[in-house]
Amino acid sequence: MRTVWRSKTAIPVQWILRDITERKELDALRKDMTDMIYHDIRSPLGNIVSSLEMMKDMLPENDETLLMMLNIARSSAGRIQRLVYSLLDTNRLESGQPIVDQHAIDPVALIRESVRDTERGVENREQTLENKANSVLPLIWVDVDMIYRVFINLIENAIKYTPMGGHIEVGAQTTDGMFVKFWVKDNGPGIPPQDRDRVFDKFTRLRGKNNNPSGIGIGLSFCKLAVLGHGGQIWVESELEKGTTFFLTLPVAQKKATGQLKRQTGRLTIKEDKP
Ligand SMILES: Nc1ncnc2c1ncn2[C@@H]1O[C@H](COP(=O)(O)OP(=O)(O)OP(=O)(O)O)[C@@H](O)[C@H]1O
Ligand SMILES: [Mg+2]
Repeated sequence: MRTVWRSKTAIPVQWILRDITERKELDALRKDMTDMIYHDIRSPLGNIVSSLEMMKDMLPENDETLLMMLNIARSSAGRIQRLVYSLLDTNRLESGQPIVDQHAIDPVALIRESVRDTERGVENREQTLENKANSVLPLIWVDVDMIYRVFINLIENAIKYTPMGGHIEVGAQTTDGMFVKFWVKDNGPGIPPQDRDRVFDKFTRLRGKNNNPSGIGIGLSFCKLAVLGHGGQIWVESELEKGTTFFLTLPVAQKKATGQLKRQTGRLTIKEDKP
């Protein structure tokens, strides 16, 4: 009896110890990576973005070529910046840190900004993007820049995975007064039923018919962490050869808006109203 009791307890204890060691190693790795991104990439990149923004105001008038080159540099730096902030957020959310920088904001304005920043991609692929989020909706309680990056990720996926000439729709509606429901719909190839859950896992990339567009497979895992971190939900509905719709819900704000959306060194923030 004694031996059985011992052997029963010995294995779980060993497993627990191994689990703790692995978790500690993972935490150390996560900290190293976050420090590296924070100090070695985030700050110099912020300098590049603000310098490019200042250069825009200093350009000689009517120099279309310079302006075009500057806009390409600004949008490319913006892409890297969004990736860097999403990696930082992913690390923070995975380690269980709560989202603290939340504001009451108009979801229609937030979608408008996201659509604006993806228009070039839509044009390049000769697609159409219809923004149906234009009715009056309750304010949502969110980390503005984080949710802006969630919308950008979903719209960029729709652009990337839908063939040339395709159609994308973005929409929003209230549900029960507690949440606002959003969707990003495309008429692309669809996602097979067996893959619909795992597309939200880190580094998952499905093999499509057309040569795989570039990406590393962290977009949707960041979206899931961000939305769940806000107390919302995210899911996908899809029909093969017909298209895919990503849905998400975000909480309605119980407070009044205290400012307007504002762009600052490539990020979307809030400009507080004067008291
Ligand atoms: N709208 C969509 N239609 C069809 N497949 C999609 C769609 N959105 C995502 N997927 C599939 O889900 C996978 C995971 O998406 P996710 O956004 O996480 O990564 P990614 O786009 O490959 O790379 P990253 O976002 O890191 O640049 C994609 O590689 C693609 O196979
Ligand atoms: Mg993506």
